[in-house]
Amino acid sequence: MRDVSQSVALYERAGDLIPGWTQLISRRADQFANGVSPVYAQRAKGSHFIDIDENEYIDWVNAVGAIILGHADDVVDAAVVDQISRGSLYTLNSPLEIELAELLADTIPSAEMVRYTKGGGEACAVAARIARGTTGRDIILFCGYHGWHDWYQAANYLVDPESGEFPFAGIEPIGVPRALAGTALPFSYGNLPMLESLFEEHAGQVAAIMMEPLRTELPPPGYLEAVRDLAHKHGALLIFDEVSSGWRLSVGGAQAYVGVTPDMTVVAKAMSNGYPMGAVVGSRAAMEPAKRMFISSSYWSDNIGLVASLATIHELKRRDSERRFQEIGEALRTALNNAIDESGLTGKCVGLHTNPTVSLQLPDETLRPKVNTLFIQEMAKRGIHTYMSFKATLAHTEEDIRLTAQATLESLMVIRNGLESGDMDSLLSVDIKKEPFRRLVK
Ligand SMILES: Cc1ncc(COP(=O)(O)O)c(C=O)c1O
Repeated sequence: MRDVSQSVALYERAGDLIPGWTQLISRRADQFANGVSPVYAQRAKGSHFIDIDENEYIDWVNAVGAIILGHADDVVDAAVVDQISRGSLYTLNSPLEIELAELLADTIPSAEMVRYTKGGGEACAVAARIARGTTGRDIILFCGYHGWHDWYQAANYLVDPESGEFPFAGIEPIGVPRALAGTALPFSYGNLPMLESLFEEHAGQVAAIMMEPLRTELPPPGYLEAVRDLAHKHGALLIFDEVSSGWRLSVGGAQAYVGVTPDMTVVAKAMSNGYPMGAVVGSRAAMEPAKRMFISSSYWSDNIGLVASLATIHELKRRDSERRFQEIGEALRTALNNAIDESGLTGKCVGLHTNPTVSLQLPDETLRPKVNTLFIQEMAKRGIHTYMSFKATLAHTEEDIRLTAQATLESLMVIRNGLESGDMDSLLSVDIKKEPFRRLVK
């Protein structure tokens, strides 16, 4: 077994100094096999990283999707280093702002005008502000995860936080003004009657629908078109949050793939391959009123984010990323399906090629948290950092896939032993991993 004692020791120190241990909840140790999975990294290149204890891993998490070309990509990093030598942030505006805006307008179907931010949640907050300012209405109907800001987290007041319903058990809405309760209302993905009745209940008050157009599966035929038509019928804007769906499926986002163009789009994460950057893009009609709104921040137009985004988007196009992600995803799916079959367990790899997910049939659903934790634990022991689902970069190789499939077979054999003996507990050397938050999208 790999020694992760330095990770464990650092995490303990973090607990003393950093409330919540980490800056991103998905990086908490309890999201993986706590005590076996690595928690702190010291180097990363391509599809691999080295943890603080000097163990090497194949990375299928890739900074929750933010790394798309591969860690420390030579082309993007060279562009950034070159820019650093000429100034990372000017007193004046940078012409790169216009260059990237033009590239985004050429690339994303909904983009005519562009604003920048540094992160995804922040860009969602800007989109919410613009939608409210443009329509003069307050309510936002949403589906999916849209970050940590008040406009969205106020929805936590609508459910009992202890129920674990939405979005995290054990995280409370404290700190978010109660006065915002009811200004952002969730709807279930695929449920058009629910959306229709929300519009009727709040007639004339809905500024926008904000939603992840898809996550792991394609939308039902006609669904996104119907959502768009419903929004427009009620005078509301349609905003796609493509922070996670953007770039891998198509460089123009899921909207380019499915052929539905929203009024506004939020992008971030993978657009800059590991350098902070986000953007809100949209139609002239939706975005132009933003010039009269207070939306302003010092680092939003820093040269590093701009240059990293320009290089990343050009490289995605130059490296034929859409076809490559299809090839890598399908090769991984085939290899994982073979491993599942060989293990003798019943299951298959489900989901889009951008997010193949190991889905096992279990005799009893209550076993799932243990099975998932055991899978992550056994994969970590074998040098694979992953959830049940896998997110590739363009740097992942056939050898990475072969090693991952081999580790998957061995891990599934451990799970099979546990299921057959009825004693999963003796195989688990860690607490059951905390479930990720619910996003209200498949
Ligand atoms: C769809 C979606 N929106 C917004 C965010 C928030 O982005 P960030 O973590 O950069 O603030 C995320 C992050 O996971 C996301 O997946």
